[in-house]
Amino acid sequence: MTVRVCVTGQPVSYSRSPLLHGYWLKAYGIDGSYGREEVPPEQAAGFYRSLAARGYAGCNVTAPNKEIAFSVLDEADESAAALGSANTLWLEDGRLYGASTDGYGFIANLDATVMGWDGARKAALVLGAGGASRAIVHALVKRGFERVVLANRTLERAEAVAASFGPAVVPLAFDKVTDVMADADILVNCTSLGMKGAAPLLLDLSPLRPEAVVSDIVYVPLLTPLLKAAAEQGFRTVDGLGMLLHQGVPGFERWFGVRPEVTAELRDLLISDLRA
Ligand code: ATR
Repeated sequence: MTVRVCVTGQPVSYSRSPLLHGYWLKAYGIDGSYGREEVPPEQAAGFYRSLAARGYAGCNVTAPNKEIAFSVLDEADESAAALGSANTLWLEDGRLYGASTDGYGFIANLDATVMGWDGARKAALVLGAGGASRAIVHALVKRGFERVVLANRTLERAEAVAASFGPAVVPLAFDKVTDVMADADILVNCTSLGMKGAAPLLLDLSPLRPEAVVSDIVYVPLLTPLLKAAAEQGFRTVDGLGMLLHQGVPGFERWFGVRPEVTAELRDLLISDLRA
């Protein structure tokens, strides 16, 4: 029987998940489908509770429903429990399970694209304090990062995120990052700055160590002003598309029973779609 899965949220029209999972379904010759369902937040709890009745084996959850989805789970994985948010749901023995895979996607992409980033020193500077930042900070701490400085325009938001992840995470105002950069092995932009239509992230990168990795979770455009400047100055860079591709791996494996590969061909397919 065809295994049915979908991406849910509002809006879902921008989601690249159907393209991603559709590619894998075809590549592995699996009898499955991956669609989209527009689910407004006020209907979200009911929708996720009735996944089985709707004929779905699971779904992805995108904004603004990730916290609502978490609230109706029977079981949450460690990341979802830590973040209070879930982006990947599946049914098992009639129970609703959920995971948060964004942090996994971020780390898996780093491992896959930057050789030797995971050295002895483990200090990160994360800019932004929204949902993506929380997921990445959690993943970095779990990965053994000893110092994570979290800088945000609204300091109270950085303080709130830092408080959930313990003493390894230090909050800082966004305009005070220069001194901290000298200690960072990785700089991650988790703000919306640099996104198409938004202002660029203007940051003097010269205080960074030459071995530092500069990464951005923004992927439209793929080459953000931050990444362009970093590459020009000789830093290793990691764009936001890889995180999107890798965060889909655990869900696909749960639903369809095959651990899919993130290939160069898949990345090219997504890049063409983003350009279209
Ligand atoms: P998400 O949940 O998708 O990660 P979000 O909650 O909308 O996104 O968060 C966007 C992030 O970009 C926030 O950290 C925001 O800073 P504030 O908390 O101060 O709002 C940051 N951001 C957006 N516009 C910004 C700007 N012009 N300058 C600095 N930071 C900005």
